[in-house]
Amino acid sequence: MQIPVIVLDFGSQYTQLIARRIRELHVYCEIWPYTTPLDKVKAAAPKALILSGGPASVYEKDAPHIDKAFFELGIPTLGICYGLQLIAHKLGGSVEPCEAREYGRAFVDIDSPEPLFEDLVGGPRAASGEGGSRIEAWMSHGDQVKTLPQGFVSLAHTGTSPHAAVGDTKRKIFGVQFHPEVAHTPLGIKVLGNFLFNVAGVQANWTMNRFLEEQMALVREKVKANDRVVCGLSGGVDSSVVAALLAKAIGKQLTCVFVDNGLLRHGEKESVERVFRDHFKVDLRVIDARKRFLERLAGVTDPEQKRKIIGREFIAVFEEEAKTLSNASFLAQGTLYPDVIESVSVKGPSQTIKTHHNVGGLPEVMKLTLIEPLRELFKDEVRLLGKELGVPDHIVHRQPFPGPGLAVRILGDVTEEKLDIVKAADVIVERELRQSGHYDALWQAFAVLLPVKSVGVMGDNRTYANTVAIRCVTSSDGMTADVGDIPVRVLSHIAGRIINEVKGVNRVVYDVSQKPPSTIEWE
Ligand code: XMP
Repeated sequence: MQIPVIVLDFGSQYTQLIARRIRELHVYCEIWPYTTPLDKVKAAAPKALILSGGPASVYEKDAPHIDKAFFELGIPTLGICYGLQLIAHKLGGSVEPCEAREYGRAFVDIDSPEPLFEDLVGGPRAASGEGGSRIEAWMSHGDQVKTLPQGFVSLAHTGTSPHAAVGDTKRKIFGVQFHPEVAHTPLGIKVLGNFLFNVAGVQANWTMNRFLEEQMALVREKVKANDRVVCGLSGGVDSSVVAALLAKAIGKQLTCVFVDNGLLRHGEKESVERVFRDHFKVDLRVIDARKRFLERLAGVTDPEQKRKIIGREFIAVFEEEAKTLSNASFLAQGTLYPDVIESVSVKGPSQTIKTHHNVGGLPEVMKLTLIEPLRELFKDEVRLLGKELGVPDHIVHRQPFPGPGLAVRILGDVTEEKLDIVKAADVIVERELRQSGHYDALWQAFAVLLPVKSVGVMGDNRTYANTVAIRCVTSSDGMTADVGDIPVRVLSHIAGRIINEVKGVNRVVYDVSQKPPSTIEWE
């Protein structure tokens, strides 16, 4: 497949966001490290190049640079922040530290609407400023372009940046000092669109439906008539979408393995059975390994130890089952694009490809070939694909759930009795938050069983029982998190239900810690 747009990554924290925005415009694009050889880019013949931002200064000794020849390929190019400065530096202009660092919200005065700012000045969000039109934009830079290279003109400025947007229309090379990819630049997506469609002549034809057709064709080409594909199904978004895609592409040659480790939420197994066995008609093997996991976990209190045991046991169970399948030659996994991007760290390109799979080691041991149909997608795109495939909403929009499951939500050793408590409390937390309309705004909401007993009174009797903590957080990626703003009356109602309905609990507390410094899960 031809890649219409390549984003060269110079280490910005927003690089992935650039790619996501471009894809929102229905244009497929990939992120490549700035160290990619010129010939490789030339061979790919993209219709447009985007140079991302980055934390370095172009004039520093080890700053990431690309060969000047990149600008002689005749490929329309847009530099963002550091990308703009690099264009200026490479093509004979100059870049210097700003007198005043520009960080945060800024107003960009547009001097020439064509071609980047067309149809956006005077739009609903653009406010008219003195002597021209202006848009709101997000800035984050300590350097700025001082003099422009030959052939370039300034297209916009701010109070402190004379060259907030520049361009050489003849060579089709442009740059913006602000970040069009972030939400704080409300019209940024239009700026990207103007560059892609008006300058580079890219077509907006990448849709989930097309992606699905392409992936299905690829899978059918790879998997021959006698092959069998094994897919570990956890009930989470990624593995569910992979399974649905494969069910549609190769149907009868797919076997899904669902390991019931006893550490799943209430009703999880039944939901997977309903969706995949009944609806998608998949050959689903549900393995009851509850006893086995509990035995291995008996008396283990250290969280990392628990994780290791669960990971190892999962592979063992999965492997035993996979071995019983004749012709198993492929293993399907829900690897996503952020897991495979070669990330450029602040210190320079790390070149390490992050691997992330819950059946680590298995493909090599069993000589299975990997099938990873989602490896080009971001999480939100996986959800769209799931919808396209008819995966039910409760799966497509489900909250993240840790691989080691409820074992990390029971502090201390894991027993059947504790699992029952945490599952029952969890159901109440979810139901009540849905009922009160708070659930959908949260990244995660769950119950944790603490190793703390306290005194209470029920009826005429004194109790000495367990404590449950409720954790509700908002987050965009799980890396940082805020405390869910749940009214005390809702929390207190949940507490009342838990204490009344879940045997062994007489106190409920609400976790009001942010991440960082606290983590989302308690273990
Ligand atoms: P923390 O607790 O580190 O969690 O703030 C961040 C996100 O990752 C999830 N999480 C895990 N997911 N295996 C997983 O697959 C794990 O061991 C694990 N630990 C935490 C957590 O639920 C949150 O979404």
